[in-house]
Amino acid sequence: MNGLRLIGTGRALPAKIYDNDAMTAFVDTSDEWITSRTGIRQRYFSGEGETTSGLAIEAAKKALDNAGIAPEQIDCVLVATSSGETVMPSMACIVHHALGLRADIPAMDVGAACAGFLYAADMARALLLAHGGHYALVIGAEQMSKLLDMSDRNTCVLFGDGAGACVFALEPDAEYESVFGVRGDMAIVAGGPRREQPMAMEGQAVFRFAVTAIPQSVNALLERSGKTLEEVDWVVCHQANQRIIDASVRRLGVPAEKFYKNLDRYANTSAASIPLALDEMRESGKLTSGMRVIMVGFGAGLTWAGMMIRA
Ligand code: COA
Repeated sequence: MNGLRLIGTGRALPAKIYDNDAMTAFVDTSDEWITSRTGIRQRYFSGEGETTSGLAIEAAKKALDNAGIAPEQIDCVLVATSSGETVMPSMACIVHHALGLRADIPAMDVGAACAGFLYAADMARALLLAHGGHYALVIGAEQMSKLLDMSDRNTCVLFGDGAGACVFALEPDAEYESVFGVRGDMAIVAGGPRREQPMAMEGQAVFRFAVTAIPQSVNALLERSGKTLEEVDWVVCHQANQRIIDASVRRLGVPAEKFYKNLDRYANTSAASIPLALDEMRESGKLTSGMRVIMVGFGAGLTWAGMMIRA
């Protein structure tokens, strides 16, 4: 099948870390509450002069370097985000300009909240197939801090800022499966784009949704591909909550080590969380060429998506 192979990754983070104790300056909370309910220990929040597109551009440059691909070889650029600094132009256009990509390629943003990176990657594949290209630059970039009400302890402790970027190659024999889902009737995570409409969330209902969406997506990918979970090297879920990942592990009956986790250090970075994880995994040598990876994203919409590729 014409599938995507992951050939380069990069990430970018704001300068300033806020650990759980630092969050007590904003709301009545504690390290004990946040750690025990979510597994989160710290997050990055942007400061003066740091923009979502700045993070996206830095992550993208690193991904191109890592892939050994020149900007002019990129055949489409997609940015998954809910927190760009402009509605027009799209963040993809800002990245396009900063990187000096070719003028004859599609560039656009994808809005599917925390599932956005996988929606964008699948769309990149479709564009490459339709137009005969070979390399796609797909970025997830967020400044969730812009969407949060810093006086709402139900949300502000859960999210963070950051960006991850991937270069994918479309290859004729590469394995590839993807699944998608949406429940537009369940707008239980909502907010933005202005600070007057900060993000609000029904936490427990989102939790119940997530622990169903992950196993369902994993099982659907396995069924379509004819593979077993034993044949999969890694499952990389959207990094929202340690307890969501733990519950999914239990439901699927797999070793917990198969699920990559880094939410303790970044909190929930929405569309950036999966590419951030992929970059860390490649950098540390945990994800090497040829490994089979399942990724699952889920979030506001409600939307969810699963994808199986080989690195
Ligand atoms: N610090 C201290 N107490 C807090 C708090 C905080 N940051 N946030 C909420 N609380 C309080 C609540 O007010 C509530 O108090 P009450 O019992 O006096 O009313 C209490 O903690 C328990 O809240 P509850 O909602 O029962 O906690 P929980 O165990 O369900 O955990 C979440 C809450 C939000 C962590 C959990 O539901 C969750 O992770 N949901 C998924 C959210 C998510 O990941 N969304 C993004 C998906 S992309």
